Amino acid sequence: MSVRIGLVGTGTVGGGCIDIIQKHRDDFKRHYGVDIELARVCSRTPKGAEAHGVGHLFTSDYKDIVNDPDIDLVVELVGGTGIAHDIVCDALRAGKNVVTANKALMATAGEEVFALAEEAGVEVAFEASVGGGIPIIDPLKHSLISNEISSVLGIVNGTTNYMLTRMNEDGMPYDAVLAEAQEKGYAEADPTADVDGFDAAAKIAILASIAFNSRVSMSDVSTEGIRGIQPVDLKTAHNMGYAVKLLALAHRLPEGIDVRVHPTMIPLSHQLAHVNGVDNAIYVTGDAVGETMFFGAGAGAGPAASAVMGDVLEVSRHIMLGVPPIVGCTCTDELPIVPMGNLETRYYLRFVVPDRAGVLATAAEVFARHDVSLRSVMQKGTRQRDAVNLIFITHTAREANIRAVLDELTGMDDMVLADPTVIRVED
Ligand code: HSE
Repeated sequence: MSVRIGLVGTGTVGGGCIDIIQKHRDDFKRHYGVDIELARVCSRTPKGAEAHGVGHLFTSDYKDIVNDPDIDLVVELVGGTGIAHDIVCDALRAGKNVVTANKALMATAGEEVFALAEEAGVEVAFEASVGGGIPIIDPLKHSLISNEISSVLGIVNGTTNYMLTRMNEDGMPYDAVLAEAQEKGYAEADPTADVDGFDAAAKIAILASIAFNSRVSMSDVSTEGIRGIQPVDLKTAHNMGYAVKLLALAHRLPEGIDVRVHPTMIPLSHQLAHVNGVDNAIYVTGDAVGETMFFGAGAGAGPAASAVMGDVLEVSRHIMLGVPPIVGCTCTDELPIVPMGNLETRYYLRFVVPDRAGVLATAAEVFARHDVSLRSVMQKGTRQRDAVNLIFITHTAREANIRAVLDELTGMDDMVLADPTVIRVED
């Protein structure tokens, strides 16, 4: 008996999966006793299928796959929450097992997807939705199952990690480094999902849901991106013993789940501080295992196809053995999301201000009035005449008070000349 696969989406990752099936089908049979057969391939045009030698399996209508009674498993590699939502939900309604790489779908409609899977008695696997080729969902669901996870910290967006690395190494300004990332094909023409942190927010929502057994959706994640970061921030942080990373963080607190994405200062002594370029890493702390780090390529045809095919093989094995879905939805608890305003941490705040008497004194008075204690203040030049960077490092302060300081200072006439840069410190 073979497990028949219907693949929807023949782009970079889909093509990588077709290649792996063609190359390793016999190995899979020999090593695992699992025979998978690519039965149908769907895309808008036949180009991808033809390029990978499976033009004869092509259809442009995904319904040909979900309505085919002989297909056991649908692989959705279209992405997004539009047609991909219909493909996944229709496949589940038709009783097909599903493997997807779709972080946006799982982070926004996970509850619906799992409910449909449970109703149909089939499996949904989504390892490739976070961290590309890095195994992290399966370890959280299986290998680390005996732990109470206290935190998950991730560098889960390769584009922004590349940009921050280049800014740090070469002192390149934000616009130049974004243009370079686009030239190299890391950043999209519209880089919003990456640079504004939404891609990382979807990924940490997925990881937090699994780690804490409680549903976390993308809208629960307080999200800030890297648009405000300039080389001066990286240099100043480095001189203080920190690296700046776009960190996706999820902590289990007594009062609930603290989950956020923002530029973060990490001590240079921490392993995550040394994850550079497009690489990703996820740092998980559990009560039994202690600290563990998962590292690797977060994107690309090979890594993503590796994760997708791992799921395909595992689900196929269950289908062959007639095993009912082993791990479905794990969100059994309903932990509250801790409001961002309650966060207490140290802050790096950079303001571009006019270089004149009284500016520092005015700012210091605003900090004091909102009960934010300052640890240090630095003044650094800018390229603009008569404007300087005023950098404040705070002692531990409450996010709500920092917000009040930012609102008051930015609301003053002739005081703050550009959007302030906020970097939170994770010690
Ligand atoms: N755009 C993502 C990144 C890869 O830059 O890491 C896809 O998840």
